[in-house]
Amino acid sequence: MTDIVWQNLAVTKQMRAELNEQKPCLIWFTGLSGSGKSTIANGLECALHKRGQRTYLLDGDNVRHGLNKDLGFSNKDREENIRRIGEASRLFVDAGLIVLSAFISPFRSDRQIARDLFPQGEFVEIHMSAPLNICEGRDPKGLYKRARKGEIKHFTGIDSPYEAPQAPELTLNTEEKSVAECVADIIEYLISHDRIK
Ligand code: ADX
Repeated sequence: MTDIVWQNLAVTKQMRAELNEQKPCLIWFTGLSGSGKSTIANGLECALHKRGQRTYLLDGDNVRHGLNKDLGFSNKDREENIRRIGEASRLFVDAGLIVLSAFISPFRSDRQIARDLFPQGEFVEIHMSAPLNICEGRDPKGLYKRARKGEIKHFTGIDSPYEAPQAPELTLNTEEKSVAECVADIIEYLISHDRIK
């Protein structure tokens, strides 16, 4: 895109953040389907909202109904899914919000590309590390059962890989911890790393 130049705007990210009285960042949940990403992200958004933070939550199933409804679950489509989410999240962070995103995001390289869009400290990766047998046992949408029968192809954890993060900011195992405990751990992380007060 050599004939397009970046347009500098008068109201900056910092000005918007200051008006919101917060430090914008992206809290990125990754993990298997059924690992608790949406539940914990939802609980965290409620907790942040109560604390007076301005937030926005991007959730896999919802975004795939709109912005990404043209995408499926091939490796290439998942890569594009995550690329768009990374870029959309960057816009929301630029707008001065604390953004939460809950996507399987199974590939390390795709998550790294999203991470690289942000300055140090603004991308907080949280690995929802519940084991496959637990996620499959929960099967909240009945999708694992269908994937085992061969009715859904390329299902993460069954016939499509999940690459766990090697150095996430936080790891939460929802087999061992309640929703309230997970949310409390994240809030504590954000306070101790000076993201929120
Ligand atoms: S990602 O891999 O591209 O990051 P995303 O988080 O957007 O996935 O969407 C995952 C959701 O789509 C799952 O929670 C599940 O409800 C649904 N889904 C449908 N087909 C698949 C599949 N083949 N693999 C994983 N999830 C699927």
